Amino acid sequence: MLTPNITVNEKGHLCFGGADCVTLAQEHGTPLYVMDEVMVRENCRGYRDVIEQEYGGRGLICFASKALSCKELYRIVNSEGLGADVISGGELFTALQAGMPAEKLVMHGNSKSNDELRFAIKAGVGRIVADNLPELARIEKIAAEYHRTVSVMLRIKPGIDAHTHDFVRTGQIDSKFGFALETGEALEAVRAASAYEHITLVGLHCHIGSQILDTAPFAEAATVMVKFMQEIREKLGLTLPDLNLGGGPGIRYTEEDDPKAFGEIVRAILTALKAACAECEYPEPFVLFEPGRSIVGGAGLTLYTVMAKKQIPNIRTYVLVDGGMCDNPRYALYHSRYEAIVANRADQPRSESVTIGGKCCESGDLIGEAMPLQNAEPDDILAVLATGAYNYSMASNYNRNPRAEMVMVNNGAARTIIRRESYEDIIRNDV
Ligand code: LLP
Repeated sequence: MLTPNITVNEKGHLCFGGADCVTLAQEHGTPLYVMDEVMVRENCRGYRDVIEQEYGGRGLICFASKALSCKELYRIVNSEGLGADVISGGELFTALQAGMPAEKLVMHGNSKSNDELRFAIKAGVGRIVADNLPELARIEKIAAEYHRTVSVMLRIKPGIDAHTHDFVRTGQIDSKFGFALETGEALEAVRAASAYEHITLVGLHCHIGSQILDTAPFAEAATVMVKFMQEIREKLGLTLPDLNLGGGPGIRYTEEDDPKAFGEIVRAILTALKAACAECEYPEPFVLFEPGRSIVGGAGLTLYTVMAKKQIPNIRTYVLVDGGMCDNPRYALYHSRYEAIVANRADQPRSESVTIGGKCCESGDLIGEAMPLQNAEPDDILAVLATGAYNYSMASNYNRNPRAEMVMVNNGAARTIIRRESYEDIIRNDV
């Protein structure tokens, strides 16, 4: 099984975090997102432990909300001592409503609106990561209006190719995010930021991409960033105290995936960071990391009901389910791969190879192709694994499908943490 919290009980039913998936589907309906609280907490602690052991605790793990933003998740990560990165007014609002302390929030975005900046500055978020020069000017203006001084980091493109899907690569020069290092743009931004009266430039940020399976690109990025901090000290006489190295560690989506464990990745980053600081005689910075997927991805699965099966001779077999791209658009967007299991036949071999099709009016609405699966019949419950990240958060109301419910399981007990949308919810803002 992909993760140790996935088991099969005496009825041959799939269990997740100790809860019988067939029972969950019967009690809560489908599609249903299921999250395992124990695993989320273990992952949060895993990150904190590495910072503690390898870096004397001189860092903050900020959960990347974009992977999964809802109040209960903020309560959990907050209680584990994490902060959060938020990228919109909506994520910021959710985090604050859930009681996240504003000073543990990092505000991101390559195109933040004035309202979002005002909200973040008024709320007193710990750090704002500025993406471009016009934004710096707007931060200065708004901070002055509120008589505040804002701690700002600059998003840097370190010029690292992270060998991942084009849509989730962000560290290279041709990216819409941040200031490029090799053109001198980044140094100019440092100069500009440090001249503003209501901005305190506290450090730099980079994020090279997502679902990265190896340690090398991360270590390389850390080295490049320290060297740039040293260049800033030399040329501008500024010693920046913070370095935010973003997120990106990959997870196992299929049995074939073999990503480096996030602990190993963070260890490699810190080793490279310490070596670069020693070489440049630069004081070791306070570090921030923004993991999303590696905290919640493997801690979630989605349950569907099988509605029909279509065998097209010599072509393929479609298993059609009651959800699809409206709850998981990742195959449509990136051709992402997943494992699926028929939850009520989990003790049987996966002897078929099928295409799982969704209910949306679009041929590209698939969960996956050539997926090994048990013989699936109508009314069976189908589980798609490792959907905890970038599924609910990227869900839509396409075809006016209500967004699915999410339950949190903890050692077999389940509670609803996001209610299923109703048709009334769907028309709430229609005039
Ligand atoms: N920090 C920044 C600035 C980011 O842009 C991201 C992800 C993260 C942290 C968290 O990265 P993670 O640890 O989750 O890899 N929708 C895509 C993923 C987009 C990631 C965008 N940025 C997907 O479904 O694969």
